[in-house]
Amino acid sequence: MWAPLVFVVVLALFPVQKAFASQTPSYQTRPKSTAVRKGETVTLYCSFHRLRNKPVMWLGPPNFQVIASGRDVDVNKYGRHSIVGDARRGEFNLKIRDVRPGDEGDYRCTVFSVPPAKDARITVIVPPPSLPAITGETMELRAGKGLVLTCRSVGGRPLPRLSWYNGTRKFVIPAADEDEGNAPGEVSLTLLVRFLSKWDNKANLTCRSDQGYPDVVRPQQTSAILNVQYSPTVKAELSSVTVTEGQPANLTCHAEGNPRPVVRWKKLAGGMPQNRLERSSTLYIQHTRRRDAAIYQCRAENGIHPAGVSTVSLQVTFPPTIRPSFEEKVSILFGQKLDFSVQCEADGNPSPKVRWRRKGTPLYFDNPLRFSRVGYGEEGHYQCIASSKGFPDAIRETYINVIGKPDVLGEPTSLAVTRGDSVSLVCEVASDPDPKEITWMWRGSDVDGDQQFPVGSDGNVKVRQESYEGGKSVKSVLTIQNTNSGRTGDYVCKAVNMFGSDQRQFSVEIIEPPTTMLAIVVAAVSVVVVLFVLFAICVARRKGWICDEAISGGRKIIDGINNTKLTD
Ligand SMILES: *[C@@H]1O[C@H](CO)[C@@H](O)[C@H](O)[C@H]1NC(C)=O
Ligand SMILES: *[C@@H]1O[C@H](CO)[C@@H](O)[C@H](O)[C@H]1NC(C)=O
Ligand SMILES: *[C@@H]1O[C@H](CO)[C@@H](O)[C@H](O)[C@H]1NC(C)=O
Repeated sequence: MWAPLVFVVVLALFPVQKAFASQTPSYQTRPKSTAVRKGETVTLYCSFHRLRNKPVMWLGPPNFQVIASGRDVDVNKYGRHSIVGDARRGEFNLKIRDVRPGDEGDYRCTVFSVPPAKDARITVIVPPPSLPAITGETMELRAGKGLVLTCRSVGGRPLPRLSWYNGTRKFVIPAADEDEGNAPGEVSLTLLVRFLSKWDNKANLTCRSDQGYPDVVRPQQTSAILNVQYSPTVKAELSSVTVTEGQPANLTCHAEGNPRPVVRWKKLAGGMPQNRLERSSTLYIQHTRRRDAAIYQCRAENGIHPAGVSTVSLQVTFPPTIRPSFEEKVSILFGQKLDFSVQCEADGNPSPKVRWRRKGTPLYFDNPLRFSRVGYGEEGHYQCIASSKGFPDAIRETYINVIGKPDVLGEPTSLAVTRGDSVSLVCEVASDPDPKEITWMWRGSDVDGDQQFPVGSDGNVKVRQESYEGGKSVKSVLTIQNTNSGRTGDYVCKAVNMFGSDQRQFSVEIIEPPTTMLAIVVAAVSVVVVLFVLFAICVARRKGWICDEAISGGRKIIDGINNTKLTD
C-alpha cells in the first residue's frame, strides 16, 4: 500500500534534485515595480538560490549605474540606500529611505552569468501641495440660469487627473472639453451646467484630483454645495376647510422656495377675520363667524418672481334659523278663493330644508304653506320647520285665523220620521266671529208663511244651542217630540254674523207607524203567494206533469183551502 506512494513522491522530487545538482544560481525573488510617495521608504526585494558568494549587483537610474555590489553601497553617492536581508539565504533587498523624485527609474538586480530578471521601476509620487481649488459662483445661483465651475490643481507628480462629481455620480465631461493651455505643473477642468433647476439646490459638487496610485496617495477632493435660488411654490394643505360657527379654524399653506419664502394671507372678498393669528404658513381663526366664510389666498414671496399663490375655501356651518318673515297670527277671510300662502324663509349652512307642519300632527306641507281654498277647518297653529343635517331643527309658529261669514256644515238633507217618534235636527255652524244668532224656521206644506222657533221650548218643539271646540263652532239642535203629520215640511237653520249668513235645509216627512205598515205588508205578501201557487198548478196541468192521483190529491188540497175559507 505505501510502497507505490513513496515511489511517486520520489519521482516528483527527481527534477528538483537534478536542479540542485547543477551549480548555477537562480532567482528566488525577482524585484517588482512599485510606486512610492516622496519622502517614504521603499524596498525592492531580490534573492537567489545557490549564490555561493557570487556578488549581487544593483543597478539603477540614471542609465543603470551601479548602486551596490554585494552588500556594499557607495555611501557618498547613495547615502539613503542600503542592502538588507539575510545574506545566507541569498537575500539582497535594496532599501531606499526618504525617496526623492530622482530615485524614479528602472532598477535591476543581477548576478553574473544569470540572465537578468525584468527591470523593476520605482515611481515616485509627489502629491500636489494643496487640494484642488474650485472657482466660480456657487452661492448666488438662480434656477434657469447656468453654472460654470472650474477646478484647478497645481503641482504634484505625476500631474493628477481631475473629475467632477455630483454627490457620488461622476459627470461625464467629454475629453474635448477638458481645459487646455494651463501653466506647466497645473491642471484644470471646467464644469458647465446650462440650466440649473430648483433640484440642483444643495447639490454637492465635488472636484476630485487623482494621480492614479490610490494605494500610495489617496485622491484629493474639494466640494462646493450649491445654493440655487428659485421662486416659491405654495400648496394649500386642504383646499377646503369646513368648521362650525364659533369653532376655531386652521388654514394652512405649505410654501417652499429658496430663500425661504414668507407667506401672507388675504381674504378675497371682505375684511379679514378679527380674532386671527398668522403663524408662519397657518392662518388661525379662533372663533369663526359665518361672515368669515370666503376664499382665502396664501401668497408666498421670497424676492424671486413669480410669487407662489394658492387658495383655501373656508366653509362655516351654522344651525338653521327662521327669519321673522311671517306674523305670529295671520287672519284670512273664509271662502277666499285666491291662492293664499305663507312663505317661510330660513338661513343656515348647509342650506336647510324648509317644511310646514300642522302643530301636533305628523302632516307636512311644502313651503310656502299654500291654501287653495280657505275654510274654518284650516284654522289652527302651523309650524315652519327648518332642518339641516347635524343641527337641531328651527321652528317658528303661526296661527292661521280664519274669519268670515258663518259656515253651516253639511248638505241639505231629507229625512223620514215615523209618526209619534221624536227627531233631532242638528245644525253645526263654524264661524268667526261667532254667529250673532242661529235661527230655525219651518215652512209647512199646507201652512202659509214661515214659522220661527226661538231658542227654548215651544210645546213639543225645542231648540237648544251649544258651543264646543273652544268656541270655534256652535251647534244648534232642534228637537221635535211626538211628531205628527202636521210637522211635515222644510226646516231651515240659518246663522248670521257681521260678514254674512249661511243656512241648511232639512226636509222632514212624517210617515205612518210601523204596526199599520206591517199589516199591509203581510196582506200583500199572502196574496202574492196564493196567486203564485194557483198559477203553478195551472201550468203543471196543462203540461201533463201531474198524474191523476196527484191531480185528485191536488183537488183535495184546493177543496181544503176552500173549506178553510168557508169555515173562516
Ligand atoms: C445632482 O444630483 C441631484 C440628485 O441626483 C439632481 O437632482 C441634480 O439635478 C443634480 N445636479 C446637477 C447639477 O447635475
Ligand atoms: C460631498 O460629497 C463628497 C463626495 O461624495 C463627500 O465626501 C463630502 O462629505 C460631501 N460634502 C457634504 C457637505 O456633504
Ligand atoms: C391649529 O393650529 C395650531 C397651531 O398652528 C394648533 O395648536 C391647533 O391645535 C390647530 N387647531 C385645529 C383646530 O386644528
